[in-house]
Amino acid sequence: MAIELRGRCMVITGASSGIGLATAVACARRGMNLALCARRVEKLEKVAEVCRGLGVRVLTRGLDVVDAAGCDAFIAEADGEFRDAGGVYGVFANAGYGLERSVMETSDADLRAIMETNVYGSLNVIRPAVALMRSRPRVQGRPRGHVLWCSSCLARVTLPYYGAYSASKAVQAHLGCAMRLELEPEGIIVSTVHPITTKTEFFDATKVRSGRGTIAEHSPDWFAQPAEVVAERVVSCLRRPRAEVWTGAKGTFVRFGMSVMTMLPWVADACTRGMVGAKSGKAAQ
Ligand SMILES: NC(=O)c1ccc[n+]([C@@H]2O[C@H](COP(=O)([O-])OP(=O)(O)OC[C@H]3O[C@@H](n4cnc5c(N)ncnc54)[C@H](OP(=O)(O)O)[C@@H]3O)[C@@H](O)[C@H]2O)c1
Repeated sequence: MAIELRGRCMVITGASSGIGLATAVACARRGMNLALCARRVEKLEKVAEVCRGLGVRVLTRGLDVVDAAGCDAFIAEADGEFRDAGGVYGVFANAGYGLERSVMETSDADLRAIMETNVYGSLNVIRPAVALMRSRPRVQGRPRGHVLWCSSCLARVTLPYYGAYSASKAVQAHLGCAMRLELEPEGIIVSTVHPITTKTEFFDATKVRSGRGTIAEHSPDWFAQPAEVVAERVVSCLRRPRAEVWTGAKGTFVRFGMSVMTMLPWVADACTRGMVGAKSGKAAQ
């Protein structure tokens, strides 16, 4: 039976744009109350306005997920704000960024920074949220909460120049997978989300940060999906929990392809080797 989401509180990090924004709107459409955070408060407020227009309550906080104490306070505040509706039910650790840089050009500071946001930033909200979920009495047949990690299809197979980013996404996926089994006996659901190329600010921001064109410029446009596709799959996973969320038919195709690539690394190399040439050509321009 599907889980009723109406009135439950969903925490979403990185809700000022892209997948986080689309998921906030999709959750609001299902009647979920929201606790949203990101650093760009003005953008976040606009998202909150749209969601409030759908008839739900929304708490917003300007927050950098690297700030562990700030994340603790945000989760506690969200739980208090929605106490009448059972407190924090779901958390979507979505905030994150990309980096396109060869491994040799990636400094220790680059690597630490991306882990700090994508991995530790996720844990910073997940840990206090799970602590709250654990503190609640168990009701037979009802989950105490649901944690979703926004990983990536690149958690499975990396691309040239995406080593640091893919490593951060692989860490998220493995932590999520371990947590799923560890928390299952306590009635807490854990899922990992694996979007393929999604049309958001992600690639523009990655381009600015990396100082050059991105791999996405070499992918066919038809391949990229809108953020709403990911958002709908996240909501569907909240209603009918599953271990991993792969998005749409293209996501299923990529999932299958990546399974083959992990069994046969030469296939992965053959499929992605061309990106080095394309990249070199781009960089030389
Ligand atoms: N787009 C894709 O193709 C794709 C594919 C697979 C996985 N993903 C993953 O999906 C997630 C969302 O990305 P997106 O595609 O929606 O990109 P996006 O439009 O750039 O959104 C990223 C969001 O994360 C927030 N954020 C980044 N760093 C933050 C920090 N330190 N503290 C708080 N918030 C932070 C940003 O808000 P502020 O700047 O306002 O803080 C923004 O709301 C990321 O984890 C990304 O790795 C994306």
